[in-house]
Amino acid sequence: MCGIVGIVGSSPVAGRLVDALKRLEYRGYDSAGIATIHKGEMARCRAQGKLFNLERRLDSDPLRGMIGIAHTRWATHGVPNETNAHPHFVEGVAVVHNGIIENFSELRDELIAEGAVFETQTDTEVVAHLMAKYVRDGLEPRSAMLKMLNRVTGAYALAIMLQNDPGTIMAARSGPPLAIGYGSGEMFLGSDAIALSPFTNEITYLVDGDWAVLTRDGATILDFSGNEVHRPRQISQTAAYVVDKGNHRHFMEKEIYEQPEVISHALSHYVDFASNRISDNVNAIDFKTASGLAISACGTAYLAGLVGKYWFERYARLSVEIDVASEFRYREMPLSPSQAALFISQSGETADTLASLRYCKDHGLKIGAVVNVKESTIARESDAVFPIMAGPEIGVASTKAFTCQLAVLASLALGAAKARGTISAEQETELVRHLAEMPRIMSRVLNLIQPQMETLSRELSKCRDVLYLGRGTSFPLAMEGALKLKEISYIHAEGYAAGELKHGPIALIDENMPVIVIAPFDRFFDKTVSNMQEVAARGGRIIFITDEAGAAASKLPTMATIVLPNVNEIIAPMIFSLPIQLLAYHTAVFMGTDVDQPRNLAKSVTVE
Ligand code: F6R
Repeated sequence: MCGIVGIVGSSPVAGRLVDALKRLEYRGYDSAGIATIHKGEMARCRAQGKLFNLERRLDSDPLRGMIGIAHTRWATHGVPNETNAHPHFVEGVAVVHNGIIENFSELRDELIAEGAVFETQTDTEVVAHLMAKYVRDGLEPRSAMLKMLNRVTGAYALAIMLQNDPGTIMAARSGPPLAIGYGSGEMFLGSDAIALSPFTNEITYLVDGDWAVLTRDGATILDFSGNEVHRPRQISQTAAYVVDKGNHRHFMEKEIYEQPEVISHALSHYVDFASNRISDNVNAIDFKTASGLAISACGTAYLAGLVGKYWFERYARLSVEIDVASEFRYREMPLSPSQAALFISQSGETADTLASLRYCKDHGLKIGAVVNVKESTIARESDAVFPIMAGPEIGVASTKAFTCQLAVLASLALGAAKARGTISAEQETELVRHLAEMPRIMSRVLNLIQPQMETLSRELSKCRDVLYLGRGTSFPLAMEGALKLKEISYIHAEGYAAGELKHGPIALIDENMPVIVIAPFDRFFDKTVSNMQEVAARGGRIIFITDEAGAAASKLPTMATIVLPNVNEIIAPMIFSLPIQLLAYHTAVFMGTDVDQPRNLAKSVTVE
């Protein structure tokens, strides 16, 4: 989850390294650091916390040099202080690392027994010590690298610089992503193409088990036996986007308000609006003959998949096995090549989701990736890629990626239904018409509810706990609402299936805990209202998120009722996402938390 960058340049690199780190800060912001070599001397600058702390230090104490490596950290081993910040230095070796060295403890004991003195609590420091030891033993840098790589196990993307080899950066990949960028008379290295986009769009992605030697003249890529391998050079589609909030206070706010636009991009890829039919793009996976569908993902992406399960089962009569990827990958579930599998990931780099994908691939399933980053590892390892077209999502709390994932899953489910003959052409046209209305309705809803969400957030900010309830596709939304609130406001929140209330959580109900009920006027509405009665009867305060028909039908007193327009069931999850996102957002803003970079989180989770 950390971000790494390297430049073997023909002009000073410090400023450019920091620039690239800005594009990687979504991968972690516990600390940041850079190291350069200038006139044969290696030097570093590190700072705890966000990147601007490092920038401030560099302003007063600049680093010179035309070669350097840099890192932004999401702490795994060792507290997030300056000592544990990368790059780590040992006897003229500098190392930055993303991932976890799993055998670090035994290597550390071995190195300490030989006299090594460790300065940090990180797993990464063993890499620097091993390299230093092999160089001390007389090995050439490349042989030292190869020997080191054959000692460490775990997940890693590494960049290594040696003071006595000042024209070279060595890199390795086993798990987390790493891209090489080609400049003119310069070479680059980065955790993703976005980091390198200001410098070059000519990219080679290392694959697992690759390591590379970069000099100003180019890169040599090798395997862990030391044999040269060839990987394709490609033109990255990732434009050098500007990290810009526009007129908004936070990226999260900007991304919430971008949803009408990006949803229409997503839909136009899967829907033929001229004929109101699902387009052929969805057939990249053969849903027609699939005996079942496995879906796996993490966090918000998993909750999108859970909504997708309702759609695939209802419309396409295709049964769905879904689990969070960290469980899916170890469940040893029986799978058959006749099944299809979908993996949902904004970043396309989430370690558990990738491992689940590989598990399914090993079992012969056809793999589809629902991703935002089209060049990500998950996309590259899939048989079919279904891009969600949300554009870069910078806010750590996912918003527009969630609704775009939903839009794509709805289109795929309808495409599957069409292929399997479980909906008629008339039904297809009718449902597609509703999908097409979505951007317009989203714009209207965002304008309509904003003031009420702001007022309500003041009430929510006083609470310690909040319960979200929903049925059918509103159940995953209840969990998403709770996840959004807790991750950015730090208020404890839980999402429950409304019918489960009386099986336990009802014990928590009192006047201090608001219960947010998500209930469009659908076929579950009356049942959910019965559950609301149970809350009201126990003095619980209800925030009721419903539509015009629901508001007219329910006579229950509530703390607040948020009334959305009546919409078809197929688009309700996307429309009802808006109030839960805005409620979490305004609550966090009111409480003064770091909305875009909430504590302890990172946008891309490349470790287990
Ligand atoms: C929550 C959130 C996370 C991600 C999860 C998966 O707002 O963003 O729960 O959804 O870490 O990330 P991706 O989609 O990149 O695989």
